[in-house]
Amino acid sequence: MITDLWYKNAIVYCLSVESFMDANGDGVGDFRGLMRRLDYLHGLGVTAVWLMPFQTSPGRDDGYDVADYYSVDPRYGTLGDFVEFTHAAHQRGMRVLIDLVVNHTSNQHPWFQSARSDPNSPYRDWYVWSKKKPKNANEGMVFPGVQKTTWTYDKKAGAYYFHRFYDFQPDLNTANPDVQAEILRIMGFWLQLGVSGFRMDAVPFVIAEKGADIVGPPTEHFDMLRTFREFLQWRRGDAIILAEANILPEDDMKYFGADGDRMHMMFNFQVNQSLFYALASSDTRPLAKALKATRPDYATAQWGLFLRNHDELDLGRLAPEQRQTVFDAFGPDASMQLYDRGIRRRLAPMLQGDRRRLELAYSLLLSLPGTPVLRYGDEIGMGDDLALPERQCARTPMQWSNEPQGGFSPNPKTFLPAIDAGAYGFEQVNVAEQCRDPGSLLNWMERMIRMRQETQEIGWGDVEIMDVGHKSVLALRYTWRNNTVLFLHNFHAEGQVVEFRLEPPAGEPDRLVNVLSDDHSEANAEGRHVITLEPYGYRWFRVGGLDYAYRRSER
Ligand code: BGC
Repeated sequence: MITDLWYKNAIVYCLSVESFMDANGDGVGDFRGLMRRLDYLHGLGVTAVWLMPFQTSPGRDDGYDVADYYSVDPRYGTLGDFVEFTHAAHQRGMRVLIDLVVNHTSNQHPWFQSARSDPNSPYRDWYVWSKKKPKNANEGMVFPGVQKTTWTYDKKAGAYYFHRFYDFQPDLNTANPDVQAEILRIMGFWLQLGVSGFRMDAVPFVIAEKGADIVGPPTEHFDMLRTFREFLQWRRGDAIILAEANILPEDDMKYFGADGDRMHMMFNFQVNQSLFYALASSDTRPLAKALKATRPDYATAQWGLFLRNHDELDLGRLAPEQRQTVFDAFGPDASMQLYDRGIRRRLAPMLQGDRRRLELAYSLLLSLPGTPVLRYGDEIGMGDDLALPERQCARTPMQWSNEPQGGFSPNPKTFLPAIDAGAYGFEQVNVAEQCRDPGSLLNWMERMIRMRQETQEIGWGDVEIMDVGHKSVLALRYTWRNNTVLFLHNFHAEGQVVEFRLEPPAGEPDRLVNVLSDDHSEANAEGRHVITLEPYGYRWFRVGGLDYAYRRSER
């Protein structure tokens, strides 16, 4: 197995240029500001930065409504700044991934403007039209409660256009070969400017058959994924696609491709939801089930794992009573909920700022089978501003210091207000202070990321879920090249004593070396390990000799 597939053991950090750092003082983050903060990201141990959309956009869906794919929105800088940024990231050994939003464009995009203005426009067939209002116009909305329909009448066009998302995001007719060629051109453009791949937005909708006659679930054109993959790999051998596809486990391999010929990575929504259920209920059984159900068929396919992202925590795949348990625990108030299926808060307030539970959640994120994707600000435990609409509440300016606007911008008028009051205000929660405090969440995170990077077994190894006899304790064991690591996580508010047999690899002592503290474990006279986990406690163990670091280097 080739071990230079970088994405198998990457640490991905997701941010939007807009909210990270403002260098020119206009109240909006920009590439120059981001460049000033690259050493921070490097110091944290980030190996790949995922940028949310930064192309020219009216900004009605935070850039997910693109009006020009081949540009940088002037609020964030220029293409020149972008190239400087990728260069500076590479100099620090970090890769750059960017969002690829090609299910739809902004309605301000010149293609759509041309398409609606002239039935003979070459762009007319780039979108999805219907003369009459389709019967299913009131079905399939992605943002229920906010979005009323999926077909909207355009006076100028004299027809209805299809939009899976908001009405200002007309769907591209992705079955049109010209549209497909354009998607490849967009990929090629950014690859040429130095990106290592794409987080591909809304993949099931990109490949779905679209049109007024579709009844029931649309057919998906999986061949499209193969075309994207082939193009990408031909242009840049080590580039990847990380797909956003909230699908059922039985469909996973259709997206990865049976021969590894489609998506390299996908976000694991199934694990995400059952993980939050485990945090809410302390019952890890559905999480264990989700981990088993989503085990990929081959080693090069990789999950992207996350706790919170820039969207709501979508609980739509949980059973109704499980969903209610998570709502009750983490988002009991209607103001915390969104689209009838999710919670829009950041992680720290959801866990009531409880350091033990935050550590549990991140320790888990870093040790589950997949590649961790961190969200900006979560490393310091940033909060949310529920006074802001929809998902904006968790997209506030990064909190760098206790200076005005949290050090994000000298301008008091920022794109969204910085959180300046309460337990999560920038006076309490900021990078500068946490850098100085050896016991801070930030410094803890940095150390954990370092341990994750020293534990390549997670990315490459075979994972086994061990039964340690407690439904509130998840025990994961990875084996790779005769190295074994073991992770224990106790989701319960009370301590738990777990007992198990290890069966170490041949020739290894029956010993568990704790990689985070001196608290190692030797098997007792009956050949069993007995470990006492604290409330919400966790352990990272390496099986066998104390010289693990030395042996690792021989792999
Ligand atoms: C993104 C959302 C966005 C939507 C429409 C998604 O799935 O994650 O933030 O609103 O696509 O582009």
